[in-house]
Amino acid sequence: MPEPPPTSPGERPDAGRDRVPTGVELTALDSTFRADPYPVLARLREREPVHYDAVIGRWVLTRQVDVDRLLHDRTLSVDPRKANEGTYMRIFERFGDFSMLFQDPPDHTRLRSLVSKAFTSRAVDRLAPRIVEISEELLSAVATAERFDVIDTLAGPLPVIVIAEMLGVDPSDRRDFKRWSDAQAMGLNPLLTEDERTWLEEQDAELETYLRSTIADRRARPRDDLISAMITAHEGGDQLTEREIVTMCELLLAAGNVTTTDLIGNGVWLLLRHPEQLSKLRDDPSLIANTVEEILRLESPVVQTARIAVTDMTAGGCPVRHGESILASLAGANRDPAVFPEPDRFDITRRDVHHFAFGGGAHYCLGAPLARLEAQLAITTLLRRFPSLRLADEPLEWRALPAFRGLVRLPVIVAA
Ligand code: HEM
Repeated sequence: MPEPPPTSPGERPDAGRDRVPTGVELTALDSTFRADPYPVLARLREREPVHYDAVIGRWVLTRQVDVDRLLHDRTLSVDPRKANEGTYMRIFERFGDFSMLFQDPPDHTRLRSLVSKAFTSRAVDRLAPRIVEISEELLSAVATAERFDVIDTLAGPLPVIVIAEMLGVDPSDRRDFKRWSDAQAMGLNPLLTEDERTWLEEQDAELETYLRSTIADRRARPRDDLISAMITAHEGGDQLTEREIVTMCELLLAAGNVTTTDLIGNGVWLLLRHPEQLSKLRDDPSLIANTVEEILRLESPVVQTARIAVTDMTAGGCPVRHGESILASLAGANRDPAVFPEPDRFDITRRDVHHFAFGGGAHYCLGAPLARLEAQLAITTLLRRFPSLRLADEPLEWRALPAFRGLVRLPVIVAA
């Protein structure tokens, strides 16, 4: 593996450097990258693992060792107010000052500790029977169908229903909640039209009104749900404000729904494309936990994240200036041959699948246990209910959301 060329803080990356032109914009908004990001990530990892990309104006890291170091570097920030870049600011505007995804310690530590109890493996494991029940109900709608769309039927609705029930949303409000939740996901796209932006603002306002009235109701009549738990959560004499609870709910919807949908969709797609792996799983259903880890590694629903330099410094091998951001390619790290032999091969019995699909460091995905459990149970239920599924012969369409990777549709045929 070649070492990155030596650079020092302040030296411009394009000054005399042997740059690797990628020929594509390194985001899912680019149709070539969206269709297949892996060849360009492999080329970068091999030839210029610490890469300055003039098209997106950012540093890009693709090796696991560099991504790991970057995500654990506590001198870097996630606060968009410290970045000198447009897209960061736009996403930030939607989530306000209080989303912990965009906060550094000590504010981040405080917010995270006030909700983390609800998302531990132990806490989410008790949701298992209900997750199976919801999966069964959703699949019953296509019980006699000859073909159906896995995203539309199962992978899309399941995470929204689960989080709605966790929060304590009444079943009669489910339909509105799904629309508000879709809007949160759409808000992750920085390139919206004026009409989309207006629609989104309307949905945000409706969701906020709904959450505030639910919070008022739970203050008066607490229930066994996450909103009541957030109201009463105490940590070192501290509590969440109403504004923080609203933002936390919005963050859970934005961070947890489309990602889990994509994990289930990408997983079913991979299994149906690899019949030998699928039959291994059918023969030994206890392989499902490792299968989901391998899906997370090979088709990571979140392909990248970023950190911001708060001074001129060298981070992850990049000479960054104050306000510049460094992109960590999680998808690149997850196919690093230095860590994973034959990294492009789908192998559900692969050992030690230590991937970066859920990030790393202080912002490691809060919902990882929940996402894992939902994917394991949804895929198991689907395969049990439909033992002879196959992919419909239709062109694939990948989601055009930057930083995400998932299928818009996954049509399948129920073979006789
Ligand atoms: C397969 C599904 C999921 C994937 C791939 C995923 C991925 C990620 C990644 C990569 C991060 C770190 C971002 C960074 O470091 O910049 C993250 C953070 C986060 N995720 Fe997930 N996520 C998933 C599901 C969920 C679910 C189900 C929830 C909750 C319902 C959730 C809630 C969060 C939250 C709250 C954060 C911010 C944590 C913090 O800032 O401390 N995620 N997720």
